Amino acid sequence: MLHVHITTLVQLLIASSATASSFDWSSTKYVYAFGDSYTFVQGTLGFPNFSFIGDVLDLAFTPAQILSDEIIPRNTSSEGSNWIEFLTGCLGGSPTKCEKQLWNFAFAGSDIDPTLLPRHHNYTTSLVEQVAQWAEFASDVLPHPDNETLTFWWIGINDTGDSLNNASITDFAAFWETEITSYFNAVQLAFDHGLTNHVFINVPPEDRSPGSVGNPTSAANLKNHIALFNAALSNHSASFATQNPSE
Ligand SMILES: *[C@@H]1O[C@H](CO)[C@@H](O)[C@H](O)[C@H]1NC(C)=O
Ligand SMILES: *[C@@H]1O[C@H](CO)[C@@H](O)[C@H](O)[C@H]1NC(C)=O
Ligand SMILES: *[C@@H]1O[C@H](CO)[C@@H](O)[C@H](O)[C@H]1NC(C)=O
Ligand SMILES: *[C@@H]1O[C@H](CO)[C@@H](O)[C@H](O)[C@H]1NC(C)=O
Ligand SMILES: *[C@@H]1O[C@H](CO)[C@@H](O)[C@H](O)[C@H]1NC(C)=O
Ligand SMILES: *[C@@H]1O[C@H](CO)[C@@H](O)[C@H](O)[C@H]1NC(C)=O
Ligand SMILES: *[C@@H]1O[C@H](CO)[C@@H](O)[C@H](O)[C@H]1NC(C)=O
Repeated sequence: MLHVHITTLVQLLIASSATASSFDWSSTKYVYAFGDSYTFVQGTLGFPNFSFIGDVLDLAFTPAQILSDEIIPRNTSSEGSNWIEFLTGCLGGSPTKCEKQLWNFAFAGSDIDPTLLPRHHNYTTSLVEQVAQWAEFASDVLPHPDNETLTFWWIGINDTGDSLNNASITDFAAFWETEITSYFNAVQLAFDHGLTNHVFINVPPEDRSPGSVGNPTSAANLKNHIALFNAALSNHSASFATQNPSE
């Protein structure tokens, strides 16, 4: 899985709603993340093997809980530290002790919206629910000053995989438009609660992953679907930046 991470990171698409001049990684002290298993880190108060904190059947936490939650080192889907741990250097323990604090709401196996695709498990916290969880229980507790905060989004890997053979979806461009509209409603919620600088990572070439090798027809379909998903993501991130100019 590691090669997939690296391939995707070079395709980083940065859509900052703040002015370009205000983006400065060396000033970034708070990093927020939303996503799926490629991004999740294990928390002492997380669902084992799925999250840093909580699950959709139990989203709530107190300020004292989130502030005492700790990252368990190397307990990720890549069986080592993952990309966002390396990026932040926040590899374990309380995020409050890290030079760049990693507040990670990603949940393994997450799709964007449970009204559009079924959950993998009844406890799976979808992307829109991760953001709602952060907004309700964390946004007033964890710091996010505009000039020291960056938010990463990486979602769509399970959506593109789960829907590949879904015969009820006859127009994938239209389906992704619906999905990405829901996605950006969540981004807007995050923005409205004070997360103003965003990095959107698109879906990597899963058609070249081991699971796709040996089935060229399926891989070609997946490649096509991913291209459409990423195009809709690119469009929406650009219009989001236009609609939410820096103050
Ligand atoms: C961010 O802004 C605050 C308030 O203006 C200031 O105190 C702080 O030094 C700034 N941080 C950086 C890294 O410039
Ligand atoms: C977590 O996943 C590993 C496999 O990666 C499995 O061996 C282990 O039993 C799981 N732990 C829990 C608590 O489900
Ligand atoms: C992560 O910790 C769980 C226990 O919470 C364990 O079952 C699992 O094997 C660990 N996974 C990895 C990749 O170390
Ligand atoms: C999410 O999608 C990835 C890539 O297809 C897959 O490896 C993973 O098993 C999926 N997650 C779950 C929980 O099914
Ligand atoms: C197929 O997609 C539709 C959305 O058009 C969704 O309601 C349905 O649950 C999906 N089926 C599966 C098996 O994922
Ligand atoms: C979630 O699914 C498990 C396993 O199927 C089941 O035992 C449990 O009752 C379900 N929980 C809820 C709240 O639906
Ligand atoms: C993105 O926007 C362009 C220009 O408005 C449009 O032609 C294209 O169809 C859009 N693509 C998607 C995937 O929505």
